[in-house]
Amino acid sequence: MYYYWSMKKLVVGNWKMNPASLKEAQELFDAIKDGIKGAKAEVVICPPFIYLSQLKGLPLGAQDVFYEERGTFTGEISPTQLKDLGVEYVLVGHSERRKLGETSELVAKKMQAALTAGLKVILCVGENEGENKEEVLRQQLAGVSGVIVAYEPVWAISTGDPYKTKALPTPQIVKESADLIKKILGDENVRVIYGGSTNAANAKEYLEVVDGLLPGGASLKADEFVKIVESASV
Ligand code: 13P
Repeated sequence: MYYYWSMKKLVVGNWKMNPASLKEAQELFDAIKDGIKGAKAEVVICPPFIYLSQLKGLPLGAQDVFYEERGTFTGEISPTQLKDLGVEYVLVGHSERRKLGETSELVAKKMQAALTAGLKVILCVGENEGENKEEVLRQQLAGVSGVIVAYEPVWAISTGDPYKTKALPTPQIVKESADLIKKILGDENVRVIYGGSTNAANAKEYLEVVDGLLPGGASLKADEFVKIVESASV
């Protein structure tokens, strides 16, 4: 128990398919690294695969992974290859990948392979607009253990986009979702983080109810991301 309560907050920046060049990636990474010096939160940056070998000095995560170690799988990256680069974390089952056709079966294989290779898995779960949250979470969390869970309701992602106007989940709803995830997994101590339009202004209230955050858009602006990390440095 002591271990759980003493655990630092986790802030994971998911850069998605950004930025457009290695030069910009390096600048953003360096600005974040400088800005968070001395912060008490645990910070992970998930850049595109191609930048992973170039960025040094902060814990790194990959945005996806394949389930085989090597072989005839054009375009895929294995858990072992990530480990070899010093990558510590991997996002698995992000909704933007599920949207491209990734099934729960495939997600489960990736999760298992990543855990076997010794990567820390951040399993992304969350319902689409109009879906039954409990049903979706039960399906996405079936057989899951040993991972960090990121609750990312699909309808709350990228609302910074001016064309989307949907309201975000309240911290109370995020808390209920985190409690539901713990109940489904039968594990009070599982680390649950929240992602979906988090920013410097709303980070603090979400951090009161979860163990960390998974910002996307806000992780591409060093100042904004540094402020989120400051809110998590408790
Ligand atoms: P935004 O913070 O841009 O909504 O993205 C959230 C997300 O998908 C992180 O994985």
